[in-house]
Amino acid sequence: HFDGHDAIWLFGYGSLIWKVDFPYQERRPAFIHGWSRRFWQGSHDHRGTPEAPGRVVTLVRKPGAVCHGIAYRITPEVLAPLDVREKNGYLREVVALHFTDDSSAEGLVYLATEDNAAFLGDAPLDAIAEQIALAHGPSGPNRDYLLNLAASLRQLEVDDPHVFALARRLAYPADVCP
Ligand code: BEZ
Repeated sequence: HFDGHDAIWLFGYGSLIWKVDFPYQERRPAFIHGWSRRFWQGSHDHRGTPEAPGRVVTLVRKPGAVCHGIAYRITPEVLAPLDVREKNGYLREVVALHFTDDSSAEGLVYLATEDNAAFLGDAPLDAIAEQIALAHGPSGPNRDYLLNLAASLRQLEVDDPHVFALARRLAYPADVCP
């Protein structure tokens, strides 16, 4: 039985923005300070293979940066399947969430740090774009992950130069990207 008292906020900044396959009570645009979204995490089980890993986003610490995403109000039980879905090097961190109405709350976020085995780190944008263009995994083309993320951020009117620069490199000429 759910009475609302044990609900928590989960901040999504990657696939959780557009692939919502879990129950939630409330969904609100939110942002966090001091973190930047980067395609620095390798994916050999979702958007790539061990032979040709893809790249998915993680958060890296960056003073002064802001990362925009979506916060979901969920029950703690919802985390169990997400822990499985987000395996491959991600751990949970507690962060301060800020909402557009100036309110804030504590929330959880999944992130992959540089000490996990699948971490790839920085590379020239053209190299990252090429890797994404070539990678396919059980969850589909890595390209779709990038373009879904870019489209969602655009819809949220969020600027993310790293994501949009990569999306421009992978978009067909007819695709709309800022
Ligand atoms: C996210 O969208 O926040 C997310 C998705 C998968 C792994 C880690 C984070």
